[in-house]
Amino acid sequence: MSFTIAIDGPAGAGKSTIAKLVAKELECIYVDTGAMYRALALYMVRKGVDIHDEKKVEAELAGADVSLMYDKGELKVMLNGENVAGIIRTPEVSEAASVVSAYRQVRKELVRRQQLMAEKTDLVMDGRDIGTCVLPSADLKIYLTADARVRGERRYKELLEKGEECDLEEIIRDVIERDRRDMTREESPLRQADEKDKKKTALR
Ligand code: DC
Repeated sequence: MSFTIAIDGPAGAGKSTIAKLVAKELECIYVDTGAMYRALALYMVRKGVDIHDEKKVEAELAGADVSLMYDKGELKVMLNGENVAGIIRTPEVSEAASVVSAYRQVRKELVRRQQLMAEKTDLVMDGRDIGTCVLPSADLKIYLTADARVRGERRYKELLEKGEECDLEEIIRDVIERDRRDMTREESPLRQADEKDKKKTALR
């Protein structure tokens, strides 16, 4: 049995920063499940699949082999053998990831892979449905959140530091829209895990 920590919460709350620090401290791996949804979204965008058509996305799923790898402590996000870690944070991919991650078959496939990782290794995993669906019996569950404005401001500063032009109010609107989508979707919406979740085993 491996030791697992689940960190869930909305975009920009600081989950990955905390998850990386904890993983380093505990000398275990950090699994960024958002990166897996992003890599899959990139695959669909590159193929020109209409991401708003669930059936079309599902029909192309088998062509995308998404996995996470660690090379000297560096996280590699592998899409059909290519490390796409550096190109999955664009606004286009963020938007596409938010859309395709609502689809049942997409979630089923990626959750299966995430659960397989957790069977074999001690890890810290972050996402939206880790405590509720992926690892309902995680040893520790954390729900990390912050006001949408604070999260938007943080994102705004990051983009400015990278020299990218951006508009704060537009970023905050995007954050609120992504929260709405993540929290209201039918499949594994973002929410804080409760005691009942412990009785669940997996997404079926
Ligand atoms: O955490 P992130 O912003 O990199 O996630 C990208 C998208 O994937 C985001 O719209 C939410 C979605 N996601 C999800 O539905 N379930 C997860 N476990 C992780 C991310």
